[in-house]
Amino acid sequence: MEQTLSIIKPDAVKKGVIGKIVDRFESNGLRVAAMKKMQLDANKAGEFYAVHKERPFYGELVQFMTSGPIVVMVLEGEEAMSKNRDLMGATNPKEAAKGTIRADFADSIDANAVHGSDSLENAANEIKFFFSKEEVI
Ligand code: CMP
Repeated sequence: MEQTLSIIKPDAVKKGVIGKIVDRFESNGLRVAAMKKMQLDANKAGEFYAVHKERPFYGELVQFMTSGPIVVMVLEGEEAMSKNRDLMGATNPKEAAKGTIRADFADSIDANAVHGSDSLENAANEIKFFFSKEEVI
């Protein structure tokens, strides 16, 4: 059993597709172990994406992630980390396989609907970043 972090980004929240995205996870064997809607400020978004600090898109990424509310979730299940990434599709929605969340709901590489942890180590750190132990059930 694995746990991974998923974020429904401001573009998808604004479109009103939270339920449709959660359905993709639940219909594919992932359980929602924790969930909250929140508004990131620049400090929190900057810290979350600190690994990308030197990348040219960092400023836009922080700006985008603070542009509206997000939904953060802990997903749990067999091979949850890689399963979530398969369900999301490629980072750039233009390259995302048909039927994936990004192919169906994302508009651009910035407004790409969802984030998912890319390793088990990052998943553990990202879960801790947003949730206390008591909030993950
Ligand atoms: P995410 O999985 O949230 O991780 C970092 C985000 O940076 C990524 O999704 C994209 O939305 C955004 N991003 C913007 N430009 C790029 C790029 N050239 N390569 C990777 N990620 C990018």
